Amino acid sequence: MTQPDRPVALFALNPTIFVIFGITGDLASRKLIPALLNLYTKKLLPSRFAILGFSRRMFNREEFREFIRSRMNVRLGQFKEEDIKHFLDHMSYEQGMFDDAGAYIRLASKMKNIDDRWGQCSNKLYHLSVPPTLYEKILSNIARSGLAQSCGDGSGWTRVLIEKPFGSDSDTARCLDKLLGTLFKEEQIFRIDHYLAKEVLQNIMAFRFSNSMFEPLWNRHFIDKVHIKLFEKSGMDGRGAFYNPIGALKDVGQNHMLMMLAIVAMEAPDSFKAKDIRCERAKILEKLKLMTGRSIRGRVVRGQYMGYMQESGISAQSQTETYFRIQALINSSRWKDVPFYLESGKAMSESKVEIDVYFKKGERNDRQETGVGDAENKQNILTFRIQPEEGIRIRFFVKVPGYDYITESKTLKFKYADVASFDIISNDYERLIHDAFIGDQALFASTDEIMASWKFMMSILNNLRQTKLVLYEKGAEYVE
Ligand code: BG6
Repeated sequence: MTQPDRPVALFALNPTIFVIFGITGDLASRKLIPALLNLYTKKLLPSRFAILGFSRRMFNREEFREFIRSRMNVRLGQFKEEDIKHFLDHMSYEQGMFDDAGAYIRLASKMKNIDDRWGQCSNKLYHLSVPPTLYEKILSNIARSGLAQSCGDGSGWTRVLIEKPFGSDSDTARCLDKLLGTLFKEEQIFRIDHYLAKEVLQNIMAFRFSNSMFEPLWNRHFIDKVHIKLFEKSGMDGRGAFYNPIGALKDVGQNHMLMMLAIVAMEAPDSFKAKDIRCERAKILEKLKLMTGRSIRGRVVRGQYMGYMQESGISAQSQTETYFRIQALINSSRWKDVPFYLESGKAMSESKVEIDVYFKKGERNDRQETGVGDAENKQNILTFRIQPEEGIRIRFFVKVPGYDYITESKTLKFKYADVASFDIISNDYERLIHDAFIGDQALFASTDEIMASWKFMMSILNNLRQTKLVLYEKGAEYVE
């Protein structure tokens, strides 16, 4: 497999303007601005860059700077005051309503002024940090005001970053994609699923394809099942009104969970280039066995934590799931009959994301005696701990010293935190913005991946009547 061509260092990139639509919103202050500040202090932004915020609120220049400073979700103390100040100097603001065509003309002229000051046609990166209901409005206005066009002699590119959810079902996802397709070429569209940028998830590919001791076992002959868990201890945290019409299946099932499955199950790509990786991820998602009214029974469990309906923004009769467990199957010779369990919930006993790969029992293991405290299944388990306490574990069996033939399970562990150079895990948004700047789409979802994951998810959503909504207590470890 050939290695990726890492494009030029960011610092040497052409001047770039990063436009954030909805800069006063939660996502911008929680994720985007802190990530940009981190990239800035690491000198990973182009030497000439500007961040241009666009939103409805009225601010003068000073108020805007103060607003950003107060909302930035970072410990400002960890940065030098001088760096923060210089970073803020790169930011400016344009007030406007998202449906006001005139506001986009003003935005375009502000961008032209920046270009004139730099004496060069700059790259433009747009981020839609707004609810999906506003995507169409903003995208159409971007197109109408000429903001989607690259300028100069092709030296300045234009790219757009789009957040999940991509539509609320297959049809709306297709419409959004069509709209994007009329404005931008595929290589300009960066669809964010921030799980793809999680360090340990990226490591799964390296681990699978760089260790010859595992890849030969990576199939139905040796693997019994795969269990992917995304558990969160918190409940709604004030996001009830946003969450209730969506539910867990759409919120994390259609995207993060299926992306994790794709990375574990995909075939080796021809190269580590974005095109090949995305193609293999899409191919495996397209092979997911669709659920039917009959097959869904017993294969999908939905739950709602007790007290959910009392949270603000939730209707008293809500049937929205905050938990699900899906038994997914893949129609391929490699994975035939191997269940992939996708399990996710809010208000669970702990926050953790991990992937357990269970190997089939060794033949002799059935006959061996079981050591004290080792009554579980005698299976080797390979665990990728995505977060927190990032790492990889392998459970294996050893003979207990002595005259009897008794085995006991032990664990081989690799923890990122134990290795100084692995301890600094770059934040997912930092990585995504970085890759959008350099134009590497490997960690972004393609149209094919989005459509394939919706197709599978729709086969569940269309048959929800065949599933029961189970109530579970907050702090659950598992839902029956
Ligand atoms: C988001 C979901 O996409 O992912 C949230 O909308 C969820 O509901 C979050 O909490 C989990 O992401 P992370 O990075 O905190 O594990």
